[in-house]
Amino acid sequence: MDSDVKLLKKYLKNKNRISHSVSTAEYMRSFATFYSIDKNNAYFCGLYHDIGKELSGDEILAYVDTFNNRGIFSIDYLDFKKKYPSLLHGVASAEILISEIGLSDKDIITAICSHTLGARGLSRLSKYTFMMDFCEPLRRHEDSVKVFKILTSDKNFDRAYLMTYHYQLKELLDNYKEICLETVEGYNEAKMISCP
Ligand SMILES: [Fe+2]
Ligand SMILES: [Fe+2]
Repeated sequence: MDSDVKLLKKYLKNKNRISHSVSTAEYMRSFATFYSIDKNNAYFCGLYHDIGKELSGDEILAYVDTFNNRGIFSIDYLDFKKKYPSLLHGVASAEILISEIGLSDKDIITAICSHTLGARGLSRLSKYTFMMDFCEPLRRHEDSVKVFKILTSDKNFDRAYLMTYHYQLKELLDNYKEICLETVEGYNEAKMISCP
């Protein structure tokens, strides 16, 4: 486990971000079995989802180019995301893990790539990473607390997934920010699964 954190600390220097990563990993592992998700994969996604978060915009775009050239899958709405490179820090994180430790599990790669924006058609591991990143208790925001309760006390996976989109979209609208269509597509799909 120490070697896991050592790799994380090679790329992350901010103590709060490291704590967030470890907290996300531990909570993902804690509830993984209940949700029929492999607990080791859950821990891995939680620990490393933000490993590329402290790269500069240009560095992120360089990692994204390398990832794209691998042909694992195409990144939707890439031109939009390139306008805001931080939206691609999940893809950069996946590329770091591929180059550093040979990560090849496509489900894990997708979960790490999609943790920032969500998307439609995600696997259970990807959905779990998306919402646990938003709601792990160190976040402390009132919306995060609500989602954490739905996920861990009410044990309502689909509802927590929908509400993660709801609060993220609300925040973007409240701040007059652009919204990536991938997030809207994820929201619409979650809404159809969990009504209202
Ligand atoms: Fe992130
Ligand atoms: Fe995160």
